[in-house]
Order: sequence, then structure tokens, then C-alpha cells
Amino acid sequence: MKCKGIILSSGQLWKDQRKFALETLREFGFGKTILEDKINEEIGYFVEIIGNQKGRQFDMWRLTQASVSNVISSLVYGQRFDYEDPIFKEFLEKIEENFSAVGSTVVMNVLPFLRFLPGDLFKFKRTMRNVAIIEKKLVESSINDHLKNYDENNTNDFISSYIKEMKLVEKTGEESYINRENLAKSIGDLFAAGTETTSTTILWTILYLLHHPSVQARCYKEIQDVVGSGRLPSMKDRSSMPYTEAVLQEVLRIVNIIIIGIPHTVDEDIIFHGYHIPKGTVVIPNLDSVLSDDKIWGDADVFRPERFLDENGQLVKREEFVPFSLGRRTCLGESLAKMELFLFMTTLIQRFEFKPVDPNNLPTLKGVFGITHAPSKYEVRAIPR
Ligand code: HEM
Repeated sequence: MKCKGIILSSGQLWKDQRKFALETLREFGFGKTILEDKINEEIGYFVEIIGNQKGRQFDMWRLTQASVSNVISSLVYGQRFDYEDPIFKEFLEKIEENFSAVGSTVVMNVLPFLRFLPGDLFKFKRTMRNVAIIEKKLVESSINDHLKNYDENNTNDFISSYIKEMKLVEKTGEESYINRENLAKSIGDLFAAGTETTSTTILWTILYLLHHPSVQARCYKEIQDVVGSGRLPSMKDRSSMPYTEAVLQEVLRIVNIIIIGIPHTVDEDIIFHGYHIPKGTVVIPNLDSVLSDDKIWGDADVFRPERFLDENGQLVKREEFVPFSLGRRTCLGESLAKMELFLFMTTLIQRFEFKPVDPNNLPTLKGVFGITHAPSKYEVRAIPR
């Protein structure tokens, strides 16, 4: 069966969906202040709830996931959700279940007959059921609402822009992959790829700060020197904050959240590094072979942000830093992710000092493998500054 949407599709169908998504998201402000405003609005709700904990220990997992998901919601649906909205909560639960199950469902790519075994040992059936629930309750109903209220002069979210394109295509009468089915799958893909990845990286960053209080102190000093406490950090500050940027890069490198790459099918016979790879072969990239290679980094297992700085403390570009992958299938949301990571983390460190619940028993740095490499659940104390 031909996969729809962006992440697992290929050929012309993939090209059309990727081109449309990239162009539309760029138009909405990848790299522009309008997007920064949306992210900052969300961060406002996020830090308010963290502040309400008044330094008590709590698990930031669900809150972080909801907040990052809301950034994608603003872009795709044109609205954010209240953190307590029951459909939104159910949606986040299903995404979490699926992400933690994918490590086991990946085995189906290699041994597809396993899905016909009775029971659900590899959680494949549950994963598919969850996808169907999300599509029906959230995605389809939102597409219906957008169709009902469609106004061609007001297409400032992903769904209404896609509908506009669908209507243009319908007029020409040409056959196209720009259709409702691919719209639904692309929405699912933007949420699936854009939520868990970024929120997991934020949670990893906080965990590494707990283990390295001097790194947290140095980031805070840099934020104070460049931004102070009187205003929110902005993307304009990024180039003046090389140390904080190096910390974010080092987290992305050392945790390598996409441990099992996304499978892609080779669409013609090729010779690669002397190996013949026949058409139709499924290739799964292994970014870990670069991000964790001692031959490249010297001490790949050590958390050392300085590896991304030169002797003057300026950021150096390392071509082996590839957490967003490379080539034509490279992450579509890289700019958005980098923007979110910078704004979320600098605001968090500006407002709070993160402390472990028990300084003598730090939460483990051992991760959990699903489709993303996530930290094990932990609690933290966010002390208002
Ligand atoms: C820290 C955050 C993120 C990391 C580390 C990350 C990493 C990756 C990686 C490694 C891939 C696979 C590329 C390949 O197949 O070779 C990918 C694909 C993708 N990412 Fe991200 N990603 C992040 C955030 C985001 C965000 C915020 C979005 C939302 C727009 C997004 C959307 C996508 C999409 C749609 C694809 C599939 C692209 C395609 O197949 O054409 N990602 N990402």
C-alpha cells in the first residue's frame, strides 16, 4: 500500500506534500517574528504553570509535551488548546503511547507477517487503533470545521491554506496528490514529528542541567549579560549567546533522539560505497554512527558543550552535527525546532533555577527507546529566580 502524507511517503506524492508544507510553514514565519510571537505566547502559559508549582517537585513531561504541541496546533489548526481540554489530553496520551511503542512496532518492517499473529505482542494493533482515534476525533473534525468556515481571503493556518490549494487544483481538473486524504496524513505527520521530538529534547536539556549545575549557571550568566531579566529572550539574541547555543547542540548530539531513523525505500538500483542496493530496499539511517563516533568527537560519551566553541568562545559549525539528518529527506521542521529550543530553554533558565529533588540521587541519564530516545521519567524543582 502506498503511504500517504510526508514522513513515510515517497516519489511524487512525497515531493508534493513536502513542497507544500515547507512553503506554507515558511510563509507563516519559519524564521520570522510572527512565529516567534506564537511560540512566546505559548511559553507564557507554560512558565505560568511552572511558576505555580512554587519550587515544589513535579514532573514536567506532560506539560512540556502539551506546550510544544500547542505551537504546532497554532500553525496547523490556527488555535491552541487549553491544557485541560479532554480531547487534547486524549490526543497527547495516544501520541505518547505510539511513540513508546514504535521501538517494538519497527520489527514489523522487517517481519511483516508478525502483525497477523493473535494478540498484540508488538503493540502494532494498539498503535493503528490510536492513529484512527486521533484522525477521527481531532484531524477529520478540524478539517470539516475549516471546510465549513472556509474564507479564501483568510487562509492563515496550514489547513485553510491546503484547502485553498485543493480548490485551485480541483478547478484545473488535473489529477493531484493535493487532496483531503493527504491533508489528513500531513497534519498527523506534522504533529507526530513536531511534538515528541522537541519536547523530549527540552526534557533532556533540563536533565543535563541537573547533572551539570555549572553549565546551567553559565547559561544563566550569558542570558543575564545579553537579555537581563526585564524582557523575554528573542531570536535576535541567539548570535550573542554562543555558549547557550553550544549547550543545546551538545544535548542534541549526545542524546540523538531519533535513534531508529525513518525507513525510506530506494526507488532505483544504486551502488553506495561499493554495495549494490536494489530498487525497493528499505534503508533505515543510523545517525548514531556519526553523532556518537569517538573517531569524530574524541570523547563522544562525555557531555561537553565546549566542543562546539572555538578558543574565543564563538560557535563553530561541525559538519558531523547531524541530529536533523541530511539530504532531501532532512527534517522539515529544523528551523522551527531550533527556534522553539532556543526560546523555551532561554526563557526557562531566565525565570527558574532547575534543581534535583535529591542532590545525592540524581535522576538517571539512561534513556528509554521508542521512536525517539526519551529520558526516563523524572521530577524536578523549578525555583523561581
Ligand atoms: C529536536 C527536534 C527535532 C529533531 C531532532 C528532528 C529530527 C528529524 C529527523 C532525524 C528526521 C528524519 C530525516 C530522514 O528521514 O532522514 C526528521 C524528519 C521530519 N521532521 Fe523532524 N525533528 C525535530 C523537530 C521537528 C519539528 C518541530 C517538525 C515540525 C514541523 C518536524 C517535522 C519533520 C517532518 C515532517 C519530517 C519528515 C520529512 C520528510 O520525510 O520529508 N521535525 N526530523
